[in-house]
Amino acid sequence: MTVIFESDCNRLKVFSALTGHEGNRVAEEVEAGLTASPRTLPSKYFYDARGSKLFEEICDLPEYYQTRTELALLEEFGSDIMAGFATGDLIELGSGANRKIRALLDALTAAQRSLIRYVPVDISETALIEAAEHLLELYPNLSIMGLVTDFHHPLERLDPSRRKLFLFLGSTIGNLDDDQATEFLSSVAALMDGDDRFLLGLDTLKEPAVLERAYNDAAGVTAAFNKNILSVLNTGLGANFDEGAFDHLAFFNPELSQIEMHLVARREMEIAIEGIGLSFVMDEGESIRTEICRKFDRTRAEAMVRRAGLHVTEWYTDSADAFALALLEKEGATI
Ligand code: AVJ
Repeated sequence: MTVIFESDCNRLKVFSALTGHEGNRVAEEVEAGLTASPRTLPSKYFYDARGSKLFEEICDLPEYYQTRTELALLEEFGSDIMAGFATGDLIELGSGANRKIRALLDALTAAQRSLIRYVPVDISETALIEAAEHLLELYPNLSIMGLVTDFHHPLERLDPSRRKLFLFLGSTIGNLDDDQATEFLSSVAALMDGDDRFLLGLDTLKEPAVLERAYNDAAGVTAAFNKNILSVLNTGLGANFDEGAFDHLAFFNPELSQIEMHLVARREMEIAIEGIGLSFVMDEGESIRTEICRKFDRTRAEAMVRRAGLHVTEWYTDSADAFALALLEKEGATI
């Protein structure tokens, strides 16, 4: 790992854990997904600069209740969640923009804030630095240690002697299937001691029409976001996808309690991805599944985290039960 950024005032340090092997992994993942049946792509490839901007727009859509509901929960229960974390590390996995962390920092007094350290972890170095610098303007006595990495990497920089509150918000856990979620949650659990906590944001299981509307907005932003993954592959891997030849499809799959996003070929096409030497034919009507967004009730969430040796200590939800924040600790931990 190398230090890639250190601010003048010494309050912001950024470390990178990304290595030259990332490129190979991208090629492998894309090839494995696109040659599978049904074809899939890892949803993390949505997020180039344009994709991140489109996602920010999604968060403000009237149909997409998740972001604003989660933010309201963080505001309402922030002091409860932060109680006892006045001197530890606040580690946000997949940090992105600052809106949510501010709700938790605002639950602390300035004196308390000077004792905690904020550790944003994000794949995008520029987004991480920009967000951290803005945060330092708002909270000048805050310490920040940024980690530029995929949140699947082990977080070697963490100090085992400091108390930790991990945050994994936005229902991003829903993008992982059962096995991936267990693996990810276990890797975080491995970094936790008995008095550490983990706050997990979860979209709740609700009426399918409400869920489907959130992924089929009237303004077409989600459709543009979905198709952007093709332009990411075109730019990054020299693929020849024609965005206009695919339709956005998002529906609720009741057996798996998940929204699925697909891109459906409007006609037969020969797809070539020069950067990884892959070519194949897509039939008319054939689709690529670009994302799953799993939806949880408390029972399902409990079952998922239990497989990683964690359990739910608090379940915060809004009056409409539209979104939930689950506070987790290690199984067997004493309060
Ligand atoms: C931020 C990944 C949780 O699954 O709802 C929004 C991404 N996809 N609209 C979600 C997303 C389509 C979002 N996550």
